[in-house]
Amino acid sequence: MFEVLERDGLARIGALDTPHGRVTTPALLPVVNPGRPIVPPVELADRFHAEILITNAYILGKGAHREEVMRRGVHDFLGFQRAVMTDSGAFQAHVYGDVAVSNVEVLEFQKAIGSDLGTMLDVFSEPEHDHDRASADVDETIRRAKEADAIRGDLGLVGAVQGGLHADLRERCAREVSTLGIAVAAIGGVVPLMEAYRFRDLVRVIVASKRGMDPSKPVHLFGAGHPMLFPLAVLLGCDMFDSASYAKYARDGRMLFPDGTRRAAELRDSGCVCPTCASHGIDELSRDERLLAEHNLHVCFAAVREVRRAIAAGELWELVERRARDHPALLDALRDLRAHNDFLEASEPLSRRGALYYVGPETAHRPVLHRYRSRLLARYSSPPAKGLLVLPEGDRPYAHRYRGTVARVTAAADVHVVVKSLWGPVPLELDHVWPLSQSLIPDRVDVEALEAAEVFFREWAAGAGYAFGVLWEGPGTLEDLARRAPGGRSVDWNLLRVRATADLQFGRGAADALLRGQVSLVVSKNTKKVRNVIVGGEHVLSLRAEDGYFTLKAAGARRLREAFAPPRLRVVVDPDAIPFHREGKNVFAKFVRDADPDIRPGDEVLVVSPEDDLCAVARSAMNRREMLAFTRGVAAFVREGVPPATSAPLR
Ligand code: GUN
Ligand code: ZN
Repeated sequence: MFEVLERDGLARIGALDTPHGRVTTPALLPVVNPGRPIVPPVELADRFHAEILITNAYILGKGAHREEVMRRGVHDFLGFQRAVMTDSGAFQAHVYGDVAVSNVEVLEFQKAIGSDLGTMLDVFSEPEHDHDRASADVDETIRRAKEADAIRGDLGLVGAVQGGLHADLRERCAREVSTLGIAVAAIGGVVPLMEAYRFRDLVRVIVASKRGMDPSKPVHLFGAGHPMLFPLAVLLGCDMFDSASYAKYARDGRMLFPDGTRRAAELRDSGCVCPTCASHGIDELSRDERLLAEHNLHVCFAAVREVRRAIAAGELWELVERRARDHPALLDALRDLRAHNDFLEASEPLSRRGALYYVGPETAHRPVLHRYRSRLLARYSSPPAKGLLVLPEGDRPYAHRYRGTVARVTAAADVHVVVKSLWGPVPLELDHVWPLSQSLIPDRVDVEALEAAEVFFREWAAGAGYAFGVLWEGPGTLEDLARRAPGGRSVDWNLLRVRATADLQFGRGAADALLRGQVSLVVSKNTKKVRNVIVGGEHVLSLRAEDGYFTLKAAGARRLREAFAPPRLRVVVDPDAIPFHREGKNVFAKFVRDADPDIRPGDEVLVVSPEDDLCAVARSAMNRREMLAFTRGVAAFVREGVPPATSAPLR
């Protein structure tokens, strides 16, 4: 039902197929109040290009139109021939204390009216509910989810995740609900958090829920209708939102903007590019609820489109960091993301297209930079030298920027060279790796960013094994270094680059395994950069210009397979699929039996049989959790098929 078309970390552009057409995600579902549709559903389709809307089955089922909706079906009743999701009344229970309908009744009603997606009646946990109470309510929500699964028939079931602010309950609820036949997993109980601008708590709740969820299912965030929140919510892996805000705020004379909310009557101009604002003055708008609702809808849909653009361009982190400046509570939430880096990092791609922009001191804490620093500690081995020359952050590539200094210093002193970058320490031989090579940072940065760089540097330098480190302060430093580490150091920078990159990319020890034998480096005449690595006459690696990482060749894969025991770097596939991979066909997630938990999207991987025979080299598109969860889509793009090993030696 759900297919991921493009991804960037946990964020994705997807296609959700329903009996009433395909819905592109991230998707905004305008809430249609069946009693009072401020913008008629037919216009939502024709003028706003809404592919899906949401309305309330509880309200429809107990209202005057019950019989009519049952007779005509919800699509005909609303005049909307595209996908319709219905909600169950759980939110009304939150508002009014109780609802006069059972889980089974509301589901049967949703089936009867032909909803494309129908929601179970979950038990709404309030943020202040203690663990005991929330736990009991999660038990009941899970019971009802199972009940819903048993009677859903053809209804696309929306399973709800509750659990209040309790991370363990959220995760448990998500895990249990994910085992059922649900079409969509929905995070509920968050409206009170959003109303109170408790975005840090919202982040915690989303992350805890996502931890337990099946990553192959689309995720709905109930009641997230403010465009200010879309980038952050999508970054955390939410795919769908429902918004009543456009109508509620309009009733109140207020206008939504991507950066907040403003009262129309207090504005001299809206400053908005939407068709409604382009053809009506602000005075007219401020007196007209309908026009305000239209503006609000335009802004919401545009915000979703902007998020999609950012995902496709690999720029969602930048967008989130910029948007966070629009409200202090969002900035708090952004700063809290680093607490979830273990989870976020697992879905981060190896590299992205283009440069990484410094937006603020938070940028250094992005999961991809967190990964760089932890891999530097765990995988990189510093080459032997008496001391360390520490260069300040500067234009990139550093080796180019500092080539004169480095040549003079290494001629006179036995030191290795590292740049104290804002992203963490960068040994000079790693300066070509994304994003160290491709970052844009201002000349003057925030003190907080400098302090963080200092902390990152010390953490690494303490274990790097050099007797001393000296910060470059000009030619005077050269004399100091020559005195403390006399005797120059002759460095084969190209070989050092190859070694350091291989260990950083594949794990400590990879360079030894890959380069055992007679090494020759093919260097580009134009760029003077390493292009290919040939060992013992075999082509083992190619260095990519785009991100400075290696493409693995079959000969390299064989060496890594021998050096590293399973599951390292492996994707284990179904025996039936093996002949296809040997011929160069891609690995579909459906056929993956297991994989290395350290594989990340974009990594070079070894495609192996259950007996650990190498059948292909591939570039993964997913991490292990995703490979095991998805039943459609490519898990790894095969670069090169590997024929069966020639028959066993004769005895
Ligand atoms: N609408 C807003 N919040 C919720 C929720 O927690 N559950 C359901 N079913 N609908 C909602
Ligand atoms: Zn407008």
